[in-house]
Amino acid sequence: MDPVSASASHQSSLRFALRRLSAIKLGIGRSPSGSLGLSTKAVTMSTPSTNPQRAPWRDLLDSHLKQTSGYEFTIATIGYNAQQRPVPRLRTCGCRGFFPELELHPKGQDAMDEQVEGGGNPPIFESDMLSFTTDARMDKLTQLESSGHAIEAVFWLKGLMTQWRIKGTAYAIGNPGGENEQEEKISRNEIRKALRVKGDADTDIAKWTWENAVTKYFANHSPVARGSFQNPRPGQPRSLTPSQPGLKLGQKVLDLHDPIARANFRVVVIRPEEVERLDLNDQENCKRWNWTLMDGVDGSRWNEIEVWP
Ligand SMILES: Cc1cc2nc3c(=O)[nH]c(=O)nc-3n(C[C@H](O)[C@H](O)[C@H](O)COP(=O)(O)O)c2cc1C
Repeated sequence: MDPVSASASHQSSLRFALRRLSAIKLGIGRSPSGSLGLSTKAVTMSTPSTNPQRAPWRDLLDSHLKQTSGYEFTIATIGYNAQQRPVPRLRTCGCRGFFPELELHPKGQDAMDEQVEGGGNPPIFESDMLSFTTDARMDKLTQLESSGHAIEAVFWLKGLMTQWRIKGTAYAIGNPGGENEQEEKISRNEIRKALRVKGDADTDIAKWTWENAVTKYFANHSPVARGSFQNPRPGQPRSLTPSQPGLKLGQKVLDLHDPIARANFRVVVIRPEEVERLDLNDQENCKRWNWTLMDGVDGSRWNEIEVWP
């Protein structure tokens, strides 16, 4: 390690130690499970990742996405066919950026300001985890739960002649039952491990809630897109009458806490373990890089290797 990065790394370790210290002063203690948990009931966030470093590929992918207008990614999960054999399942989804730093459109922010105390969470966390939203009644969530949460996401960014593949595990949050629901509890715990505190924001940790994080994603949808979470059950024959009378197409939802839509709305967060960038800009000298997470889930150590394309 060169002296500059050694000193930067030393400083960030120091910053982290100071943050831990002030978190302890704020009343954060070790829970019986060994994880750091906040002591009051009202507070829902415990201290996240111990690693303040971004993954080495993160800012490049972020800048590629920012240079691309209107991108989707393909999401692969593992399903099981009628013979119970594992089969790939793929679909297009809208990428919602790195969790939880969603950039809200102005109308979404207005809705948050009007309907959520303080206008939402303080902007204290960042991560290397990509996110998308989905309907809990769609197949992908059951597939994640029955396959160890395995996922792969792929972007083809034609303007940049670059393919990005992100492999890892994914977890859905947003069940209105909160941590009383086992899957929600698992998801929050797994996502928490890979969150990083930004800057010196310790005093705000107590104000951050999972509920507000999910509500922000809901607010980022237009009223008609929010209404799609009140559609009849996706994948059911159209000839079947929906069991609930409130379920129909084309509804508009203005209430960010609408009980029917929110019962179905989920944010899926992808925790990357392996990332690959394929650069096809120079046909005679295509390039490919691979990053593998070597140590833990918190992005602490990525091994970078350039491979033959
Ligand atoms: C352009 C485009 C964007 C889409 N975005 C999403 C999305 O963000 N989330 C989602 O769950 N489905 C999205 N879909 C629908 C999915 O491709 C898929 O039909 C749906 O999620 C059901 O898949 P599943 O039953 O395998 O879970 C999108 C489809 C298209 C064509």
